[in-house]
Amino acid sequence: MVDRLIREDQLQVRVEELGREISTDYEGKDLVLVGILKGSVVFMADLMRSIASPLEIDFMAVKSYGLGKRESDGVVEIVKDLSDPIEGRHVLIVEDIIDSGYTLEYLTRNLATRGPASVRICTLLDKPDRRKVDIPVDYVGFTIEDKFVVGYGLDDSEKFRELPWIGVIQ
Ligand code: IMP
Ligand code: MG
Repeated sequence: MVDRLIREDQLQVRVEELGREISTDYEGKDLVLVGILKGSVVFMADLMRSIASPLEIDFMAVKSYGLGKRESDGVVEIVKDLSDPIEGRHVLIVEDIIDSGYTLEYLTRNLATRGPASVRICTLLDKPDRRKVDIPVDYVGFTIEDKFVVGYGLDDSEKFRELPWIGVIQ
């Protein structure tokens, strides 16, 4: 049973706002959006279309949760790396949700070693109550309570990613 938490139209409005903010902040800069697979795909597809300035996209896949597990243990592994170098470029990591913060702490540190002009974070959802490591988050779509959510790319053991809205598993 999945209860609705954020409707499709609310997502659309907020993603467009984020896109406008990012367009202004990165005007004239060489921007690469780095989507973290698989959870960010739906958000990435909508966000990139609401950014008015030119950009490129790339993807990384990391494993931080075992299948069937709902908690990160702090161990992050790169399953798929970027296709291209990011040296001298402005990187904006696009993530579905920040929970403990372990995944993004690892990723920002890893990407920073590759000589980018900047590395910032854009997450659709933030669960600040669950944070284990303090990391600066530059763009947040929605701040939510400590509940396990699915839909709009987010999964529970690979299920529910296709829902066009965000829901809470009961
Ligand atoms: P962190 O390393 O604990 O911050 O975990 C980040 C990752 O955990 C996200 O990219 C998601 O894949 C997953 N995750 C955390 N909370 C949820 C949730 O409520 N629903 C679905 N996936 C989640
Ligand atoms: Mg994820």
